[in-house]
Amino acid sequence: MVKLIASLLLCSFVLSAPVYADASISSAPKATTAKAPPAAAIPKSMSATQLKAFDGKNGHKAYVALNGKVYDVTNIDEWKDGKHYKGMVAGTDLTPYISQSPHGANIVKELDLTPVAMYKK
Ligand code: HEM
Repeated sequence: MVKLIASLLLCSFVLSAPVYADASISSAPKATTAKAPPAAAIPKSMSATQLKAFDGKNGHKAYVALNGKVYDVTNIDEWKDGKHYKGMVAGTDLTPYISQSPHGANIVKELDLTPVAMYKK
């Protein structure tokens, strides 16, 4: 009886397990083609040096740090080419300057921005 149950379990496992003869042409799950870069390409936390590369110039993405978090502002009209009002530029930490802005730090909530990484100087 035990043997029968064991072999039934084994059979159901073998039948339910997907078989991919050739993963490249089979129905194996493919990576999603999201527009954003793969999560692995963006570090979970970014240093000032890493952030600097995301300056919005020459096709680079435009990232800014604010209160310990990094936000992607690439597609915001007011951040075209990584430039903003009052000489603010992408690739930098704006925390010391946000109090001089008319909108304040709440702008990230208003725009519904999700941090792409934590900012660690
Ligand atoms: C995460 C950082 C920031 C984001 C996402 C952001 C985004 C925006 C957006 C969407 C606008 C246009 C809409 C509005 O006025 O609310 C704007 C306007 C403006 N921002 Fe920012 N901003 C940021 C940081 C800053 C900083 C650090 C400063 C200056 C110290 C600044 C200064 C201004 C000024 C002067 C305007 C123009 C307001 C006007 O007269 O129409 N921003 N910002």
